[in-house]
Amino acid sequence: MNTILVGAQWGDEGKGKIIDVLTEQADYVVRTQGGNNAGHTVYVGPKKYVLHLIPSGILRKKKICVIGNGVVVDPIGLVKEIDTLEKLGTKCDGRLFISETAHLVLPYHREIDAQRETVKGKNKIGTTKRGIGPAYGDKVARVGLRLIDLVNPEVFAEKLKVRIKENNAILKVFGAKPLSYKKVHDEYRAAGDRLKPFVTNTLILLHKAMAKNASILFEGAQGTFLDIDHGTYPYVTSSNTTSGGACTGSGIAPNRMDRVVGVMKAYTTRVGEGPLPTENAEIADMLHGMGREFGATTGRARRCGWFDSVATRHATMVNGIDELAITNLDGLDTLDTVKVCIAYRIGKQKIDYIPNDVAILSKCEPVYVEFPGWKTPTDKVKNWKDLPAKARTYLKAISELTGAKLAIASVGPAREQTMFL
Ligand code: IMP
Repeated sequence: MNTILVGAQWGDEGKGKIIDVLTEQADYVVRTQGGNNAGHTVYVGPKKYVLHLIPSGILRKKKICVIGNGVVVDPIGLVKEIDTLEKLGTKCDGRLFISETAHLVLPYHREIDAQRETVKGKNKIGTTKRGIGPAYGDKVARVGLRLIDLVNPEVFAEKLKVRIKENNAILKVFGAKPLSYKKVHDEYRAAGDRLKPFVTNTLILLHKAMAKNASILFEGAQGTFLDIDHGTYPYVTSSNTTSGGACTGSGIAPNRMDRVVGVMKAYTTRVGEGPLPTENAEIADMLHGMGREFGATTGRARRCGWFDSVATRHATMVNGIDELAITNLDGLDTLDTVKVCIAYRIGKQKIDYIPNDVAILSKCEPVYVEFPGWKTPTDKVKNWKDLPAKARTYLKAISELTGAKLAIASVGPAREQTMFL
């Protein structure tokens, strides 16, 4: 069974936890896009892990983890992640494999990311400043450096010299300080030596595993509406966060995939700029007051709103979602009334899809239906039938409106706070 897991909203849907739970049934866990802009939080007993590049499958012994060709890898960040895991008692040797064709994030990518945001001023994207956009830009422009280059000292030195020269000229235009070739070279080469044992041809590795009937879980990062093609462009990330990205980012064909699981919160959140039709200050205040909805990577307070079924229906269409995992239900436990957006109104017109023009989407007024709140804590509930009836009604309604089968409901960050339907 090969499963693709995607975020059905704007990222931060609680994918890390669901991936961790689904990993139990998988032999391999594969990241296929994004970089260390992602932050997947997993709790194992009292220990909290935030993983940015390494699949959270690493926390379960015997699982093999792969960073696929579609990921952009910050080698320094990755070495830190490996070291932190090892300090916490999780060994990566023999269980982590990194594609030799995955592209590198280098210091000039981060610097240019930050400079571009500053220049954009009020029109900024609100990126994580991890250099993701410029790294993918270099990949598409065919001037990127890859892991295969990093682990080859001569090739790396030669290619880096040219890239530093060009990027220093760009940084000069921004009025930013130039980078020292030697400093970057030495730091990255040291990381290259450390990563070398993990770098391999992951395409062959995965196909060999499939030939032996291994189960693979493809873990998506970010969410559907941050997709470079299908998201709220330009307020998006620079990769395909939708299910197709799992195929191109790993080299596994679409007809080898068996199911797509979409993860969504019982409400909506977004970090960074761009339209969020159901945004609501009261819900944001309530959730932040509960200490919830602060970013795992940047610590930024997330924007919050009511559940938007126009968006999640769209996500079902784009990703081919078969099953839904709905998370953070417990975040709504205290409300008298819970609202769900079922359509948008623009002037006199009512629409039930996401318009492509962000200027139009920004003007969309949500049309809501209301559900009575259950006003009971759900965080200790372990079985579907023990959930308050009103909470079950709400979950069934958002699953029907989204157009996919409800398979998992989650009421807290721990593995035990998960119900299978
Ligand atoms: P970038 O990926 O750093 O270029 O950021 C582009 C947009 O995607 C910004 O709005 C970020 O806040 C958002 N973004 C990137 N990664 C994540 C994530 O893992 N969760 C939620 N939002 C993200």
